[in-house]
Amino acid sequence: MHPFSAGLNRRQFLAAGSIAASGLATKPAAAAPGTFPKGFLWGAATAAHQVEGNNINSDVWVLEHVKPTMYAEPSGDACDHYHRYRDDIRLLAGLGFNTYRFSIEWARIEPEKGLFSNAELEHYRRMLGTCRENNLTPMVTFYHFTMPRWLAAMGGWENAATVDLFARYCERSAKHLGDLIAIASTLNEPNIPALLPWIPQFRSSGGDQAEIFKAAARAVGSDKFASLLFGPTEKSAGNLIAAHHRGLAAMKSGPGKYPVGVNLAMSDDQAAGPDSRRDEKRRTVYGPWLAAAAKSDYIGVQTYTRARVGNELDLPPEPGIDLTDMGYEFWPEALEQTIRYAHEQAKVPVYVTENGIATENDSRRIEYIRRALAGVQNCLRDSIDVRGYVHWSMLDNFEWIFGYRPKFGLIAVNRETQERTVKPSARYLGEIARRNGLS
Ligand code: BGC
Repeated sequence: MHPFSAGLNRRQFLAAGSIAASGLATKPAAAAPGTFPKGFLWGAATAAHQVEGNNINSDVWVLEHVKPTMYAEPSGDACDHYHRYRDDIRLLAGLGFNTYRFSIEWARIEPEKGLFSNAELEHYRRMLGTCRENNLTPMVTFYHFTMPRWLAAMGGWENAATVDLFARYCERSAKHLGDLIAIASTLNEPNIPALLPWIPQFRSSGGDQAEIFKAAARAVGSDKFASLLFGPTEKSAGNLIAAHHRGLAAMKSGPGKYPVGVNLAMSDDQAAGPDSRRDEKRRTVYGPWLAAAAKSDYIGVQTYTRARVGNELDLPPEPGIDLTDMGYEFWPEALEQTIRYAHEQAKVPVYVTENGIATENDSRRIEYIRRALAGVQNCLRDSIDVRGYVHWSMLDNFEWIFGYRPKFGLIAVNRETQERTVKPSARYLGEIARRNGLS
């Protein structure tokens, strides 16, 4: 792929090189209290299926439309980010951010097995180019929960053949986009199938789920259908780990030279009571992935709350503690603990690649960010190598089975008109980003 295709001019290409070389690979020098190391990444994140709209070739689109369904509503046009990315990226840059984390969509890039769409790859190339034009460091996730429906019909991550297919998808995408990528991750929260069963409100009622998956298999003309968020972990875990390593190797084969890691869903797990299964939870949910991250360039920490782990599962929220609109405890201090744990275990640089809160009350979001960043500061003070903070999410978007009700965005979206409204929290975090400091 010629670097100047997809509207990327020489200036943008050179900027791409300088962002890629701007200290991402080396430990940033320590900073004075209240400030952050030079080159610290300040971003907001999205994921393709949650914002682009009309991701019709994906497994999740099928699950949204079968009957019965566990989806509160279909994703539909989402935030129409597929067409509006230019304005969204400009808006983010104008607020003071220097990083945009987004995902590329396998179901668009390979809509039929073996048929790769150059037009869709060019779309993502234009997105990368737009980040560069606006001086945003593009952080690219290659897989964020969704896959092509043809692959779900083959058994998705439960089928070992998916490892090769993922490696091929990464190779094709990295070849087309690599010269513009500044930092990449193979898989978003591949440990989520192992984590969800610990959380009482996410434990599925097996019966309904079996019906839904039968209906989905019928819809795609197969006797199978599998989707990451709902799969039994015994069948998918090994394939996901192998896929991470193969994907990483594909990205390393160039073009471009950028750090590659993996993003983990991590809560601050606290042992409740003498027979707490906390350590067992840590061993099974994070253990294999911390080992995989240790062989990668960095670990992406994604934290929303704490969990008190009892002698069976996570306990329900402690009475008297504020809840977010996801029903999680309002616990911004969780981030400091997960950064510490991830760094101590994996011993690689940490990027916070997701942290945020579902709330209609934006002043709670500001308070959440303020306290979460105080935790990041504590980590930096202790010389923990934290290199960036990326908030979830840039936009109010499609929160999977819960639909559009939970509002995680720094920017509100009117779903009729697609009008964007910047929330005070976006200005608050944008100012911190601009100053690279708390006050
Ligand atoms: C996921 C996002 C999701 C967010 C908020 C993370 O688990 O990566 O896709 O929207 O949490 O629940």
